[in-house]
Amino acid sequence: MIRGFLFACTKESEGKCLNNLLFATDQVYAPITIRVRKGDLLFLNNIDTDILHGVFRAVSDGFYNKEDKVFAGRYPYQVQVEPLGDITKIQKARTILAKQDSGKRNKPIFGKKLVSLLNYFVKTSSSFPLDKDSKSHISSSTLLEEIEKIALSKAALDIESEIPLVETTTFWDFPRQSYGLTPKGNNKYAGVTPALIIYNMIWRYTNPGDLVVDPMCGSGTTIDVCKEEKRNVIGYDIVSTRPDIIQNDSRNIPLENDSVDMLFIDSPYGDNIKYNYHPNNIGNISSESEEFYDELEKVMKESHRILKDGKVLGWLIGDQWVKKKFTPVGFEIYKRLCKYFEPVDMICVSRRGQSSNTDAWSNRARRFNFYLRGFKYLIIVRKTAEVADERKRRKIKWASYNRGR
Ligand SMILES: C[S@@+](CC[C@H](N)C(=O)[O-])C[C@H]1O[C@@H](n2cnc3c(N)ncnc32)[C@H](O)[C@@H]1O
Repeated sequence: MIRGFLFACTKESEGKCLNNLLFATDQVYAPITIRVRKGDLLFLNNIDTDILHGVFRAVSDGFYNKEDKVFAGRYPYQVQVEPLGDITKIQKARTILAKQDSGKRNKPIFGKKLVSLLNYFVKTSSSFPLDKDSKSHISSSTLLEEIEKIALSKAALDIESEIPLVETTTFWDFPRQSYGLTPKGNNKYAGVTPALIIYNMIWRYTNPGDLVVDPMCGSGTTIDVCKEEKRNVIGYDIVSTRPDIIQNDSRNIPLENDSVDMLFIDSPYGDNIKYNYHPNNIGNISSESEEFYDELEKVMKESHRILKDGKVLGWLIGDQWVKKKFTPVGFEIYKRLCKYFEPVDMICVSRRGQSSNTDAWSNRARRFNFYLRGFKYLIIVRKTAEVADERKRRKIKWASYNRGR
């Protein structure tokens, strides 16, 4: 299947893109760029002049260029391209793209929409008089061939219609457990993690090729997300549910010190879910007991040991309300994590797909005056050599504002 992608440049970067035949983006559109495949069709929108340059064909897959020299490291997610004949310029790009419903960079253009955009280029390139040096006729015929290929293609859809951009606030609410065209983990696994939590973590805190580790990876959601987003990954669990999950107790992880770029852990929240009957399953211990936190603290210590300095751990955790007793599991885990790590941020993740999301449970919550758990915490912390020192050094000067009368 041939897909189309919209890239952007500015007045400043246009020359570099066109002279080097290299389209590039920063972190924001990185998940889109790494999905570009050799043979896809690309368009370049100068956002300052509102001109759309086309049509280009990707001659490489999208890649992460750590050593980028062309854009001095500013746009390290790149695709090498070739023009299909002449490069045609279309004015008023925004209006035209909006009319074709193709103006969003995180929405690949395919099928009829791609044909329609290409037809626009055919019309525009052939509307200029052809002189003997012009290659416009080559452009048009190459484009027509391309259009015919796309129109006749019966290939199945092989990319999501909208590629998720990373979340911008500290409240995340994902309606589905998975994203994309393939399953991530097993949505029948009790306690499965919403895949977009992991997606957001890895796009914020790692680069393609980095090593991500999940010491309690259950049905393997972290493994599937990392593979799709081109990270290296190792997943462990006390009981392996599939061949690529290594059986291991997370209190003792068989990895070298300072060797991991990011850790993600969705630990048990207490003994509310029966994951398995393994004697070392921490999910057999009640979160009302100190032992539960002591055992998870061993996982924190081990995580700290294997993580590289300056790198991040994301820990997903929920509170408990059982038999009229509230246990603030999240706060306790946060406290323990801060013994080893520096806090980065805290995300509130909406709890969907809970077994208690039923009318019967809602009625009980009203009748007996308690709350159903509506959210989990994603606690993001960083390993720093100087957790304690750093705190001592940071003197905050608060600006004081005069309130208007
Ligand atoms: C909330 S689930 C993880 C879900 C997983 N992220 C997924 O999407 O499928 C917690 C996992 O911790 C595992 N676990 C409990 N004690 C463990 C231990 N000591 N070492 C490793 N894994 C353990 C359980 O087996 C369970 O699969």
